[in-house]
Amino acid sequence: MRTAFFNTKLYDKHSFIEINEDYNHELTFFEPRLTPKTASLAAGFPAVCVFINDELDEDTLRAIAATGTKLIALRCAGFNNINLSVAEELGITVMRVPAYSPYAVAEHAVGLIMALNRKLYRAYNRVRDDNFSLDGLLGFDLHGKTIGIVGTGKIGQCFAQIMNGFGCKLLAYDVRVNPACADIGVDYVELPILLTRSDIISLHCPLLPSTHHLINAESIQHFKPGSMLINTSRGGLIDTNAVIEAIKSGRVGYFGIDVYEREGSLFFEDLSDTVIQDDTFQLLQSFPNVVITAHQAFFTKEALRNIAQVTLANISDVEAGRTNSNAVKLT
Ligand code: NAI
Repeated sequence: MRTAFFNTKLYDKHSFIEINEDYNHELTFFEPRLTPKTASLAAGFPAVCVFINDELDEDTLRAIAATGTKLIALRCAGFNNINLSVAEELGITVMRVPAYSPYAVAEHAVGLIMALNRKLYRAYNRVRDDNFSLDGLLGFDLHGKTIGIVGTGKIGQCFAQIMNGFGCKLLAYDVRVNPACADIGVDYVELPILLTRSDIISLHCPLLPSTHHLINAESIQHFKPGSMLINTSRGGLIDTNAVIEAIKSGRVGYFGIDVYEREGSLFFEDLSDTVIQDDTFQLLQSFPNVVITAHQAFFTKEALRNIAQVTLANISDVEAGRTNSNAVKLT
């Protein structure tokens, strides 16, 4: 199927062109994000392939539907950037890649924990500067600490299994129990209890209207003083300004994020020569106990290969009139 790729980076092109040898779709790669302003690029393409920061709002959807697009193939798991009711009204099919490597994201969350706890980012810079002092690098044993996991789906489960290996106590909050987590001793509790008891809280639930700003000024009041908050899920789960206040007061002692609520205008681009206009982001960057990565948790060789394979198979299925369980439906 003729498919217009938006928001394309070189690594997307490489993985999709390689895997497409088995699928033979006609792929055209555009660098800009899909927004109402760039929607005209999709004219004449029955399918568009998009990523997390493309804007599939009502204006974009109406524009691409008017010029013949019938399929949105998401090359990611989350679909919070799509107005699903408008897509349904316009008869646009939405497909996604529900799982491409839960290990990649879970392992990155653990990486953020280790970097923050053992201050690896500071240690790396110090040693390069021949400063071998240990002052300010004191960490804590993960063994025996309580980890609160919010969302125990595919990624939350992998994360629980890894943290179990560290000898941590595991608490979880989810709208449903994952038996694989219960089997390794994860204790399901209500969210306020999880927030009160955890030394480290890691978010692995989707961004939905009901989870928007799940971590806010009120819920932070439950945190243990000095606790660690990790978010590799979606930026909108956290009210960033509330966390900044909590970092200043010491309620949050460590903050590690791979996602940020206004990342759309920042992440995936080289802005090193520009003046960042987002004061909240700049303030966060200035704290010594904050580590930010720019939405790279998914970024492993295995995940890129799986993303390309499942996305192209989704397009083939829709082209052949087949349905599969990767279709995104309004619930
Ligand atoms: P999943 O669908 O397997 O699991 C999500 C879990 O969250 C489910 O167990 C679900 O019951 C639970 N949940 C739903 N509503 C909840 C609520 N209100 N409170 C607590 N739990 C709730 O999804 P998966 O694959 O584990 O991904 C989780 C999230 O990770 C995705 O929604 C996506 O936003 C994010 N993600 C981030 C990536 C990155 O590169 N940083 C890459 C891939 C996913």
